Amino acid sequence: MDFLRTGEDVAQVELHCLYLHDGFDLPDRLLSEAERHRASAFRSADARCLFVAGRILCRSIIANLLGCTPQALSLAITPSGRPYLRDYPDIDFNLSHTKDRVALAICRGGRIGIDIERIDAFSEEETREIMPMILSEQELNQVHRFDTRHRHDVFLACWVQKEAALKCLSQGFLADPQSVMLAPGNATFSGTWQLSGEPIFIRSGRIGGGESADFQWAVATSKAATTPLWRHHKNGIFY
Ligand SMILES: CC(C)(COP(=O)(O)OP(=O)(O)OC[C@H]1O[C@@H](n2cnc3c(N)ncnc32)[C@H](O)[C@@H]1OP(=O)(O)O)[C@@H](O)C(=O)NCCC(=O)NCCS
Repeated sequence: MDFLRTGEDVAQVELHCLYLHDGFDLPDRLLSEAERHRASAFRSADARCLFVAGRILCRSIIANLLGCTPQALSLAITPSGRPYLRDYPDIDFNLSHTKDRVALAICRGGRIGIDIERIDAFSEEETREIMPMILSEQELNQVHRFDTRHRHDVFLACWVQKEAALKCLSQGFLADPQSVMLAPGNATFSGTWQLSGEPIFIRSGRIGGGESADFQWAVATSKAATTPLWRHHKNGIFY
């Protein structure tokens, strides 16, 4: 159980991606009563499915790490909507879902946020409209140096990085995305939470192909972290 080793200077990160294909079994018996109640309130079947899949994924993977049953985990939610493990303050996790994918990031020794978006999440027109609301003036100038097609890709990469950072900070879009300043580094981006000067460590990339569309992803941690590797799941066996 290397992931749970203590005393490291860097945070340890695990990333999991669940692909929801037709006929995928979602056993909601793994959920708490409160989660089943929340699931039943979704009007959209797709949104319900993503929520249930996210809870099943995080309960199964984290329970396996901790050596307990998925049902035994006590998940609480902050007032801003962020789920967390009530009994394990040293282990943080975060979820993101879109279309037929659910992503889970787990971090020991720091806080974490994750975002995934389909690469066709925004049209070129939407990109043009949204960019000034998300990027600072300096970032906007940098993005405008790219031609239109690349500009879309660069903006999407910035979007997921900022959303991951805001989720790491528990704020989500309660905070202004312009308050996260992105700066390119060697292999990773680093960010700064402008309001407090707090550093944020960001990794980003693309996954997908095959049976599903490509996705842009980003994880943000409150501490420098080990290089995360993706583990992909599609048959409901999450260990
Ligand atoms: C966090 C936020 C950016 C996520 O947006 P989204 O389009 O649903 O994006 P994702 O699929 O990437 O993430 C959803 C997951 O983020 C997590 N999440 C929710 N709020 C969060 C927060 N404040 N910080 C970090 N993570 C959060 C949840 O696990 C959620 O999945 P779940 O509802 O199935 O548990 C957006 O919900 C937000 O800005 N929330 C904060 C403000 C708000 O509206 N709060 C409501 C009060 S309860």
